[in-house]
Amino acid sequence: MSEAFILDGKALASALHAQVHDAVETVKRQNHVTPGLAVVLVGEDPASHVYVRTKAERCREAGMASFIHRLPASVREQDLLTLVHGLNLNYDVHGILVQLPLPDHIAEHLVLEAIAPDKDVDGFHVLNAGRLLNGVPGALAPCTPVGCLLLIRSFARDLSGMRAVVVGRSNIVGKPMALLLLQQDCTVTVAHSRSRDLAEECRRADILVAAAGRPKMVQGDWIKPGAIVVDVGINRITGDDGKVRLVGDVDFAAARDVAGAITPVPGGVGPMTVACLLRNTLIATCRQHNLELPGF
Ligand code: GUN
Repeated sequence: MSEAFILDGKALASALHAQVHDAVETVKRQNHVTPGLAVVLVGEDPASHVYVRTKAERCREAGMASFIHRLPASVREQDLLTLVHGLNLNYDVHGILVQLPLPDHIAEHLVLEAIAPDKDVDGFHVLNAGRLLNGVPGALAPCTPVGCLLLIRSFARDLSGMRAVVVGRSNIVGKPMALLLLQQDCTVTVAHSRSRDLAEECRRADILVAAAGRPKMVQGDWIKPGAIVVDVGINRITGDDGKVRLVGDVDFAAARDVAGAITPVPGGVGPMTVACLLRNTLIATCRQHNLELPGF
């Protein structure tokens, strides 16, 4: 079998970024509104700091305003909630993202539910999660699974009737991913670390989304020949040479000989998540100002 088609997230994200940039320029010129994204980062997790910096940079490159709020890990829950309430009322802020995970002493659900649903560009508020569950058109949906879906559909437009297996059941990726695939008329299985025969579940998949957070867990012989494989994992491992490398949840070298299409790590899902965040911020801005929604 020939090698899998590489689903180039960097290229697709760059095209989406350019579309968002053009739409932002139009909104600024015609409506005198600058879309603004506020990102709240609590604590010192180095990976989260990198993600937040990247989000802010891409935001500015797209012509949007970016506001970063860095808080110590010791911040009181009430003070974080007060910050979120202030951002809800701030007219310069159209999108709010609180970087997860939060420290253990803060109730994540309280913070996510404090975000105004119209500004919830992560799509994590229960109202937006419920809208996605109910298939309400135009719901703000979580960025990573939306990015995965765009990657899948860049290779196969019509997913109807396909068997999709999502490995992982998080609120950030696994659950919304399953709902988005269901909306595309896939037959969806959500598998996870407790699934009885994970390899066998994966072998049935025409579309396999790996979001388990376990380095190289999905082996080559877990993949159905010709399947579309999307790797959401970003795991830092130290190689034999002592250097830290990023690897996904899929054994890429083995999988590319079997799959029909596969995302690399890095350069697959990661850039799409950020591009979808910018798109959600643009959509949120348009809704708040009663402007025509972008057609992409
Ligand atoms: N942590 C890991 N992924 C995400 C994400 O998509 N959004 C937020 N807010 N936090 C995350």
